Amino acid sequence: MPESQIGKRKLSHIQTTLHEHVQSHVPTGFDDVRLIHRALPEVDRDEIDLSTELFGHKIRAPLIIESMTGGTPLAAKINRTLAKVAEKLGIGMGVGSQRAGIEDENLAYTFRAAREASSTIPLFGNLGCPQVARDDALDRAKKAVDMIGATGLFIHLNALQESVQFEGETNFSNMVERIGRLARELPVPVLVKETGAGISMETARALEQVGVKGINVSGLGGTSWAAVEYYRARAEKYKLQMELGKTFWDWGIPTVPSIVEVSNSTNLRVFASGGVRNGLHIAKAIALGAQIGGLALPVLKSVSLGEMAAVERMNLVIEELKNAMFLTGSRNVEELGKAPLIITGATYEWLTQRGFDLTKYAIRGTEFAEDI
Ligand SMILES: Cc1cc2nc3c(=O)[nH]c(=O)nc-3n(C[C@H](O)[C@H](O)[C@H](O)COP(=O)(O)O)c2cc1C
Repeated sequence: MPESQIGKRKLSHIQTTLHEHVQSHVPTGFDDVRLIHRALPEVDRDEIDLSTELFGHKIRAPLIIESMTGGTPLAAKINRTLAKVAEKLGIGMGVGSQRAGIEDENLAYTFRAAREASSTIPLFGNLGCPQVARDDALDRAKKAVDMIGATGLFIHLNALQESVQFEGETNFSNMVERIGRLARELPVPVLVKETGAGISMETARALEQVGVKGINVSGLGGTSWAAVEYYRARAEKYKLQMELGKTFWDWGIPTVPSIVEVSNSTNLRVFASGGVRNGLHIAKAIALGAQIGGLALPVLKSVSLGEMAAVERMNLVIEELKNAMFLTGSRNVEELGKAPLIITGATYEWLTQRGFDLTKYAIRGTEFAEDI
């Protein structure tokens, strides 16, 4: 695809997600999860420690700004501002797909802007499967890492989006093996993320076996990329793709079932994203088995109002998380990971049908837990 066309597409992603209704109609499942309230938390809220380790970096809260953009001048400005926000709050960040910067050196600055704004944050690179499918994938992946001094590289999975869009690239053959090759040969950890349709335990296990170090579930319940493509197809009058986008708008594994599937079937680092909208969602995700939470669209919306608005938005998320830790009597992130909880509704149905015994979440930390 010509470079200018990639830039145009990136700009239209920003505009479409900011101005159209691109939310999935299916819930994430966070409302089906209730952490057990501790009326006597036995901790001092002011002494709660939210810090955690992320691939060699100590971060002040278990939080990243999700991979979003690059490839256009506006994206450079967004990446620069997001990196400043991440540095102020002591959290991590991802840049969007770096294809544009690899194919056109003149656009590399739109990604590099993030590293130039902060030399210290954990910063994750990003490449899609069409790049991984190429013969020169390793070379491209190294370029992506070097471009931003990346802490790790996210390979994003977007089969749903590619399958409903008019310029979609849908050859996903031998992808596990190809991702494994990158995982073996790159100098930084290779991680895999979805883009709003979730990851199953089967896919997670296959990726763990080939050396992937972490999974960002990016489940269903937040931004729907089928929806984004629906609006783009509507603008271009591509009738077939409009219908495909509408039909597959709510396709995928909701975020909460995906977190449970991946964290219970692998030893990988699990990032929770896809419809994460507050710190209580992150607390629930960590208690379910994730280590880090991430937000995309809400950060883009706030950063479009300026750096201060984004700092305030993410600071609220951190305060909400801290509050949930207080009310569950969790002194640190590790203790939050063991907080008891109940799973109800559609999420309970999903997980029991997929073979999970959920009592381990409900009674852990109690005297009954010793009996199971
Ligand atoms: C404007 C925009 C651009 C995105 N571009 C990318 C991308 O290039 N690579 C990627 O892995 N994910 C990309 N995503 C997906 C997000 O990282 C995230 O997985 C998804 O939007 C779900 O999170 P949310 O519900 O908080 O938005 C993008 C999201 C948005 C809103």
